[in-house]
Amino acid sequence: MSETSLPFNDRVFPGKALKEEWEKSIKKPQEFWAEKAKAIDWFRTWDKVLDDSNPPFYKWFKGGVLNISYNALDRHLETPRKNALAYIWEGENGEVRTFTYYQLYREVNKLAKVFKNVGLKKGDRVAVYLPMIPELPITLLATARLGGVHMVVFSGFSAEALADRINDCEAKILVTSDGAYRRGKIVTLKDTADRALAATPTVEKVVVVKRTGQTVPMKEGRDVYYHDALAKVEANAFVPPEPMEATEPLFILYTSGTTGKPKGVQHGVGGYLVWGYWTLKWGFNPNDKDIWWCTADVGWITGHTYNVYAPLAMGITSLIFEGTPDYPAQDRWWEIIERHGVTILYTTPTAIRMFRKFGEEWINKHDISSLRLLGTVGEPINPEAWKWYYRVIGKEKLAIIDTWWQTETGGFMIAPLPGIELVPLKPGSATNPLPSIQAEVYDEKGQPTPTGTKGFLVIKTPWPGMMETLWKDPERYKQTYFGRWPNIYYTGDYAVKDPDGYFWLLGRADEVLKVAGHRIGTVELESALVSHPSVSEAAVMGKEDPVKGEVPVAFVTLRNGFSPSEELRADLIKHIRNTIGPIATPDAIIIVNKLPKTRSGKIMRRLLKAVLVGAALGDVSTLEDEASVEDIKATYEELKRQLEKK
Ligand code: WTA
Repeated sequence: MSETSLPFNDRVFPGKALKEEWEKSIKKPQEFWAEKAKAIDWFRTWDKVLDDSNPPFYKWFKGGVLNISYNALDRHLETPRKNALAYIWEGENGEVRTFTYYQLYREVNKLAKVFKNVGLKKGDRVAVYLPMIPELPITLLATARLGGVHMVVFSGFSAEALADRINDCEAKILVTSDGAYRRGKIVTLKDTADRALAATPTVEKVVVVKRTGQTVPMKEGRDVYYHDALAKVEANAFVPPEPMEATEPLFILYTSGTTGKPKGVQHGVGGYLVWGYWTLKWGFNPNDKDIWWCTADVGWITGHTYNVYAPLAMGITSLIFEGTPDYPAQDRWWEIIERHGVTILYTTPTAIRMFRKFGEEWINKHDISSLRLLGTVGEPINPEAWKWYYRVIGKEKLAIIDTWWQTETGGFMIAPLPGIELVPLKPGSATNPLPSIQAEVYDEKGQPTPTGTKGFLVIKTPWPGMMETLWKDPERYKQTYFGRWPNIYYTGDYAVKDPDGYFWLLGRADEVLKVAGHRIGTVELESALVSHPSVSEAAVMGKEDPVKGEVPVAFVTLRNGFSPSEELRADLIKHIRNTIGPIATPDAIIIVNKLPKTRSGKIMRRLLKAVLVGAALGDVSTLEDEASVEDIKATYEELKRQLEKK
């Protein structure tokens, strides 16, 4: 964890700019944000920058009125950016489509007109279940133009997951596609959507984008093809951008937590946009010559903020890619970077570790010298992966912007900020909090931990990008995030601060897994497993994985009348894929006779984890209050034997 001497750091001159900006933001948050918010076009200026009269329900830019699609599109039409590219999209099959800001504006207006014609009104929810195609950001922008609230479900989720989310937010419209390409094969998205739609009474209209072209069932009166619908409105349709209060909802995005039901994180229009804009500017400082490539799918928060709203509000050019990194070959990304001249690459530790496994020869085949800055997000980046990224992709010249943040925070929270001033980098540390972010590491009692001691990462004061609430569940919002220490935002992450004050993120402190950067609740997996007729009890935990960071492993016990078999294991995996989606597929399902329990009947996860990783049982005394020492030892040995048999 000590300071490393990267050749790069020799060229960094830590001055005072970052510290000064941070202090200004803390001492005078109202003035600070009033100034920053001028980067956005407002129809009406706010009355109050921050209304904190009812914590933890903070209202940023209260009284301010704006429209986010206006900020992403219309305002560039009066500038030379009008004819600059907003998006370069590359399909999995190599097809390329580009959109200037003007072309995107026209497309968004047409779709907004379609939505308007079917009766979409301000506040109505639009569910989106699409692959990474241009129609995905277009749908978000068209919804936002009318003041609708979008709710995107990543296309790797199942019909059941889609239906649950649609029902929770009572969406009126669903936008999906006939299919999606995955490694040259067609995934029949519309079939999955139809299965979900069988249980979603609120959906009145389904707009289907033609992507893969096979014939799909279209329900009369409900389903329309995107292209047919757009062809029916005027080519130069104009839908006035709906004036939105800064604090009105822009979107809901469901994310996993510590209980079974995913949480509907709700973001508002104003604070979210201001935060998205400034975090991108501080973190990567893109300019109009850059080609920004954030590799996240728009199905996740990273795609919402850094593939749609922040880059469009800044007027820069983004690349979006439909496919996977290793199809048709393991140099697909480097080939894309070379061909399009990508200048900034923002991706995940999982992708980096995967490329490292593929080998450097795939990269060295290509001229990637257009790159000028690198970024990472989604999970802790291990120093080895960081160094590899720095050496092989960055050629020991490019800074790595490790950005720590969450669905709930709207944008980066802890990251190096070359847009203000680049601090010396340390492989594996996200460095320092952004302006306005008062981060701290707490112990169990809510006291700051001494330097070098692991604890819980908390944020002590509000910031513009923070979620507003959980959709229709303010009590859960309060409990989950501010329940542990009043008015202190609990992140659910472990962290440690080093003697230089740098933050090192150490993974989740709760029952949430990060599988290839995807957030998955162990409780969700457990509920899915016990909903199978054969399963009596289940305990799911993360197991370290050299590429994906961690993978889920499930311990299950069976009901009477069922016995372990390969078929049953395969069926359980299929069941999880159907109830949650392929992204939650467990790495292993371990069928055991009995799960270890505490005296009060709780499953002893620590013991299971020890068995799983082959660790010695260690200090049994700390488990003593949970069960007798003999019982623990005996269970441990028995489980180990069962595991070895497999
Ligand atoms: C983890 C993704 C370490 C963390 C933007 C957090 C990270 C969770 C980093 C949020 C990082 C994200 N270093 N850990 N740079 N970025 N995380 O909601 O555990 O999908 O709580 O948002 O990802 O995941 P989410």
